[in-house]
Amino acid sequence: MSASADSRIRSLPQLLHALNEVALAHEFGEIFERVELSLADVQEYVRFKPDTYNRQSIRKTANYELLVLSWQPGQQSSIHCHSGSRGWMLNIQGCVVEYLYQLCQQGDEISLQDERKSQCYQATWSYIDDKRGAHRIAVEGSTPAVTLHLYAPPIESCNYFVQNGLQVTKKVHVYETV
Ligand SMILES: [Fe+2]
Repeated sequence: MSASADSRIRSLPQLLHALNEVALAHEFGEIFERVELSLADVQEYVRFKPDTYNRQSIRKTANYELLVLSWQPGQQSSIHCHSGSRGWMLNIQGCVVEYLYQLCQQGDEISLQDERKSQCYQATWSYIDDKRGAHRIAVEGSTPAVTLHLYAPPIESCNYFVQNGLQVTKKVHVYETV
């Protein structure tokens, strides 16, 4: 269901104000579902790197982190989990797809199953947590992409998974706040 006209969040200051008013964890989702930001609203956080996507933190508190990710065509994330954090992503620009995997671990053996691809359409949001699975985000087409991410709580580090044939290796990625 789309937000009613007067409940939409149409500027970054309005979003940051709403996030700081959050008293209950479920309210993060209720706020993010109302966000309608354009590229101009986050332009100062858009930075492209030649070799990998770029993360630019807008604000980080004990309860949440809001970031802008900038992606050149063909760039993608690793397959990763969210370390117990809940995550929302708004596609502001570009052709963004999500690949979702069910993670199975038996002893030291890890497998990734049921790869499912879904399109993240421009101006729409998606949600991820570890119960839904691990995922990777990729940019298709020839247009650079810009996405807005809200993590509650912030993700300091997460597991990511490298596939080599049937073998899957788990590694740890520690995020730097920029
Ligand atoms: Fe993610």
